[in-house]
Amino acid sequence: MGVEIVVDGLSKSFGKQLIWGDVTLTIPAGEICVMLGPSGTGKSVFLKTLIGLLKPDKGSIVIEGTDIASCSERDLYEIRKLFGVLFQDGAMFGSMNLYDNVAFPLREHTKKSESEIRNIVMEKMDLVGLLGTEDKLPGEISGGMRKRAGIARGLVLDPEIVLFDEPDSGLDPVRTSFLNQLIVDLNAQIDATFLIVTHDINTARTVPDNIGLLYHKHLAMFGPREMLLSSEEPVVRQFLNAQKVGPIGMSEEKDADELEAEKDQDLPPLPPIPMQLEPSNGIPRRSQRDPGSWCKEHDVTPPPGSFEENMSMTTGA
Ligand SMILES: Nc1ncnc2c1ncn2[C@@H]1O[C@H](COP(=O)(O)OP(=O)(O)OP(=O)(O)O)[C@@H](O)[C@H]1O
Ligand SMILES: [Mg+2]
Repeated sequence: MGVEIVVDGLSKSFGKQLIWGDVTLTIPAGEICVMLGPSGTGKSVFLKTLIGLLKPDKGSIVIEGTDIASCSERDLYEIRKLFGVLFQDGAMFGSMNLYDNVAFPLREHTKKSESEIRNIVMEKMDLVGLLGTEDKLPGEISGGMRKRAGIARGLVLDPEIVLFDEPDSGLDPVRTSFLNQLIVDLNAQIDATFLIVTHDINTARTVPDNIGLLYHKHLAMFGPREMLLSSEEPVVRQFLNAQKVGPIGMSEEKDADELEAEKDQDLPPLPPIPMQLEPSNGIPRRSQRDPGSWCKEHDVTPPPGSFEENMSMTTGA
């Protein structure tokens, strides 16, 4: 079913450099969340803090009643078993074939027999469409296949929470679409809680149930996909629509002159909110909301043309 992660007042610095402060959000059980933010805003640091690889300076991260910011090493070890992680660089062992790479966590953390391990590895390789490549070395396959092998490895311990750090970086648009479909299908199948860090705006707009945006050392906004995609808040609007006009500049923040220069520029209207990507078997995910339901509940008129394929469900919103 996946478990909830409750983050409260979390801050992280390295030496004197504050990375982000006072981050508060609840990542709902079984839902898909995307975390966005300009490069260097600490998205990878956030993921590493969630699994206890980095210690926050302040705040709490409560998972199944345990605060991993302050618990013992022993409790942390147990909590970590709930996680499957796909690191930004794939983190495959270059000298091991894909089979051994995917089997690694099982050999490391369980006492399963080699025949049990074989069943699990083959099942996960099948899930990500890599059957038949078990003998290949990571260096012999494409970047997209390496990502999928990384996902298979992240799934072997049946995680309740899966963290993906830029699963789509370096992939061509077609492979990114396949990967997004794979992520949605996996979520439907294993019902775990998913948190995806990405720079791909299309992924952010179509895949998750919820979106967060880290900007300028804090969490600018976190909430349902429709809330952020209909938001007029300048930073959220600029980032989710990949626009140059707005408070975000090349180096984090624009200065007063730059902002003054663009103050009379008209912002283009918000683009329509797209339909959320559905599992390929057509059966909705458990945590999926009806298109337009957040807007309707909150009396927000979505941009014209939103949820086009299913306008009947949004009329009157
Ligand atoms: N172990 C560390 N020690 C010191 N500083 C670190 C450490 N890890 C990360 N940082 C710093 O924290 C900041 C955030 O890094 P992080 O990798 O989380 O950014 P990011 O948002 O993931 O960026 P990108 O989108 O480029 O992946 C950077 O300034 C980085 O130099
Ligand atoms: Mg990163």
